[in-house]
Amino acid sequence: MHQEQWTAVDTYIAERLAPADQARDAALRTAAESGLPPIAVSAAQGKLLQVLATSVGARSILEIGTLAGYSAMWLGRALPPGGRMTTVEADPVHAEVARGNLTRAGLAEVVDVRVGRALDVLPELSGPFDFTFIDADKATIPEYVRWALALSRPGALIVVDNVVRGGALADADSTDEAVAGVRRLHDLLAEEPGLLATTVQTVGAKGYDGFTLALVLPADR
Ligand code: SAH
Ligand code: DHB
Ligand code: MG
Repeated sequence: MHQEQWTAVDTYIAERLAPADQARDAALRTAAESGLPPIAVSAAQGKLLQVLATSVGARSILEIGTLAGYSAMWLGRALPPGGRMTTVEADPVHAEVARGNLTRAGLAEVVDVRVGRALDVLPELSGPFDFTFIDADKATIPEYVRWALALSRPGALIVVDNVVRGGALADADSTDEAVAGVRRLHDLLAEEPGLLATTVQTVGAKGYDGFTLALVLPADR
């Protein structure tokens, strides 16, 4: 009862609650054809992002790590009319594939794909954002959370992908820089009074991993 069952249950959930969609399927297809790695969120996880962004009434969304625009598609569709999303991608090839996918999904006017390393682009952005999805290089996650907090309005939600890493999160002896990044994230959250946070472990088509959820508290809390 492991990966095979997690995938079967994920398929069941996706068939009912995150069913096949022409634009999303095309995005995954063009990503594969363009040689991009198959590391987008799963359909059920994309739906989770959509639920969470909708639950905070997001009108302005930030994403760090676009890849082919698959998660951006889920999030862009969580926005009300007039809502806007900015997604930051370091790799110009990924950004170009994402722009094509988002255009075909009818989201060209909603989602702005910014090309550049996130630590270079973030200082150029003006918030406030209501929802941030952090899903780029893992070693730099704590810095991205700091930026997301600075660019957020009170009540905003910050979601971080890939924080459990097959359980390596709990391995204090790990020499992996991604593990160091997610452990430093937890050190930061333990000390940051402005964020109400926890981490949820997940299994599914993408294996054993997890999301950190951090709610930006108002200054008087
Ligand atoms: N959110 C996407 C998957 C992102 S994969 C989805 O679920 O559909 C991670 C992406 O982060 C890759 O495209 C990678 O090129 C990008 N990336 C890595 N380092 C980065 C950096 N420093 N700044 C911006 N993007 C970065
Ligand atoms: C990788 C990155 C991701 O964002 C992800 O969800 C899975 C894997 C990676 O860089 O390998
Ligand atoms: Mg990820």
